Amino acid sequence: TIPVIIDCDPGHDDVFALWLAAGHPSLDLLAVTTVGGNVPLEHTTRNARIALSVAGVTDVPVAAGAAGPLVRPLQTAEWIHGENGLGGPELPEPTVPLDARTATELIADTLMGSVEPVAVIATGPITNVAILLRDRPDLAGRIREIVWMGGSTDRGNATPYAEFNALVDPEALDLVLRSGVRFTMVGLNVTHLALVTPAVRRQVAAVGNATAAFGDELFEFFCRTNDEVFGMPDGPLHDPVAVAVLADPGCVGLRRTRLDVELLGVETAGATSVDLDGMLGREPNAWVAVELDVERFWAGVAASVARLA
Ligand code: BDR
Ligand code: CA
Repeated sequence: TIPVIIDCDPGHDDVFALWLAAGHPSLDLLAVTTVGGNVPLEHTTRNARIALSVAGVTDVPVAAGAAGPLVRPLQTAEWIHGENGLGGPELPEPTVPLDARTATELIADTLMGSVEPVAVIATGPITNVAILLRDRPDLAGRIREIVWMGGSTDRGNATPYAEFNALVDPEALDLVLRSGVRFTMVGLNVTHLALVTPAVRRQVAAVGNATAAFGDELFEFFCRTNDEVFGMPDGPLHDPVAVAVLADPGCVGLRRTRLDVELLGVETAGATSVDLDGMLGREPNAWVAVELDVERFWAGVAASVARLA
């Protein structure tokens, strides 16, 4: 099993990322940290605790991290995720407590406490990981790799060329890319294949436990807002695809390439420049997801939900 930390901003799809990691036999979820993103930090933190509580995952510490990006003001996405970040189901009081440490303290402690290097999966703006690498470069060697949902090899979803997580904190992404830690980008070009179709909803609902029932209410809301905003009634469930890269490597095809992020562009800040054709002649610095085995992905999600409460 691969020890992992998830850094997230729940968010409907982040919840499924947490469940895929918590329920998958190939992964050992050691810690969860939160960042301001889809909604402000108070909500993302509470939502992470709720997601784990619903699933009966009570032994994983949850710590709150950065309220906003390194240098820019926070931009949120209530129109997709609702005012509280998890529109749809009635939200229970979380039984999972909030850890007193900051996100970076919890990540640092987790890295130091593990015999093996730990993978970090980031499913929001990558601010917390950037802060860790900036303040504790000595710990970089303890990170097995970073897998991040964000960016795109083609167009964006928050501006014409920027994906939301990249747009919110491009400086953090830039810092992480320069760290030298193995980095995999899982962008819209593959996450737009992970569509919550009616058949997928039936497949997950058929699991029949409390987690699946809560998840179906999340799907209902998420598909409605994706229809309203993007005309995509089968909403793309982005974040768990990043988890699948580690949980089931055969499920996601990767390419080694050059990846940079636009920091200066007036219209294009947060756009990811993915040099798949090697036009720039620069040293490759990242892996980029380019293929998804969609059926295998959803089978993994459903099987993981089935292992939860
Ligand atoms: C990303 O932005 C957020 O709204 C989702 O949770 C996902 O991480 C998709 O662009
Ligand atoms: Ca997210």
